[in-house]
Amino acid sequence: MKLLIKNGRIITADQDYVADILVENEIVSQIATSIDTDADETIDASGKYVFPGFIDPHVHIYLPFMGTYAKDTYDSGSRAALVGGTTTLIEMCCPARNEDPIEAYELWKSKAEGLSACDFSFHMGVTIFDETTPDKLKQIVDDGITSFKVFLAYKGAFGVTDEELFHTCKLASELGVVVTAHCENADLVSQRQAELIAEGKLGPEYHEPSRPVTVEASGVHHFCTFLEMTGASGYIVHTSCRDAVEAAMPFRDRGVDVTLETVIPYLVLDNTYAELPNFEGAKYVMSPPIRDKTHQAFLWNAIASGTISTVATDHAPFDFAGQKEMGRPPESNFTKIPNGIPSVEHRATLLYTAGVSTGRLSLRRFVELVSTNAAKQFGMFPQKGTIQLGAHADLVIWDPSYRGTISASSHVMDTDYDGFEGFEITGRPEVVTCRGQVSVRDGKFVGSLGHGKLVQRSTKAE
Ligand code: URP
Ligand code: ZN
Ligand code: ZN
Ligand code: ZN
Repeated sequence: MKLLIKNGRIITADQDYVADILVENEIVSQIATSIDTDADETIDASGKYVFPGFIDPHVHIYLPFMGTYAKDTYDSGSRAALVGGTTTLIEMCCPARNEDPIEAYELWKSKAEGLSACDFSFHMGVTIFDETTPDKLKQIVDDGITSFKVFLAYKGAFGVTDEELFHTCKLASELGVVVTAHCENADLVSQRQAELIAEGKLGPEYHEPSRPVTVEASGVHHFCTFLEMTGASGYIVHTSCRDAVEAAMPFRDRGVDVTLETVIPYLVLDNTYAELPNFEGAKYVMSPPIRDKTHQAFLWNAIASGTISTVATDHAPFDFAGQKEMGRPPESNFTKIPNGIPSVEHRATLLYTAGVSTGRLSLRRFVELVSTNAAKQFGMFPQKGTIQLGAHADLVIWDPSYRGTISASSHVMDTDYDGFEGFEITGRPEVVTCRGQVSVRDGKFVGSLGHGKLVQRSTKAE
């Protein structure tokens, strides 16, 4: 199977030029000013950008959480990812504390294998650490899962103790794997929730005050201290505010290897959405919470300057009816609203619309934020995250002239609402290939379920 892409403007993290690309057997086999060959298919990309396939390093698909399950399966989830240009996603494998890690890993993998249309990997959630844990985690790392995930929040569910955190970081440091972390001080959150509820403050607008920026900054400081003590490499997921970024900076200055992620909801939404009437605010409840506009402006500067390396989604889809409603007052309260916002489909179009087309981000910086930096951070570069000879033919042909509007009535994700309903979009993925397979055409999914493979990721040592 030979696919020829002609006249596209190829944009990688460090190059920007017009050329033809030949794809053979899932990889990029030739890049040249003009390629003449008998191809099975030729796509004219004149006037379009060609980006390396996007990588979303923070996604939830199978997620038993807060008394329910996240809505998507790999059927809807991987189709939505591809329509948004994401050719590889890394899902959080989140076992319960009494679940065996290997059984959990096999369970999570079984949900994706044979069903996912895009490539996938996992961050292995470490939710308990005992004497049997190191051998089991080593086996999982040997399967190409070269990152762990710890939760400093969600005490009693996924949250680890400090002793467990220490051992997890120690092991990660030995194995050369990255520890990804959700940083919030769990005890402060539960105390604050109890205070607010006692005052009769039950609605979704009290979710943010229950987990203020200082609680997130405290979690970041705490996690970075463990990185410094163990020599592990860390990655802080969903950084929502200035205070959290600033908490990490002194550690980075002292040589601690800590990388920061933010997620698309924090860049385009603010805390007024959680105040919408008729419990609509519940659609915008996620943790850490969506902050006020001053933090949003800070985050835009931090992604433009490189202080924050990646823009992920933290896709965690729950329906409004039946799921978000579990926290509706007066019978219930905001602590019972399943946390999360569906977004795997919209990350790149929203970042491009609010970032590139407004002049806040260069095209090359955009590529770093949605693809290259995640590939480098998580052991996939240069097979993924760039366009070069021998790389996987994960390509996004982007139409910068497209204009559209986001709506739950047309999205692919399996939720009954869209948190970005009515947002106008500039540009979109027109054609997307995943290891050479044309998976999106004219913005519509045309790929095949089961095409996606588990990505073999390398450790820091390899
Ligand atoms: O609100 C969120 N973020 N839900 C998903 C679980 C997590 O903390 O990432
Ligand atoms: Zn989290
Ligand atoms: Zn501390
Ligand atoms: Zn998450």
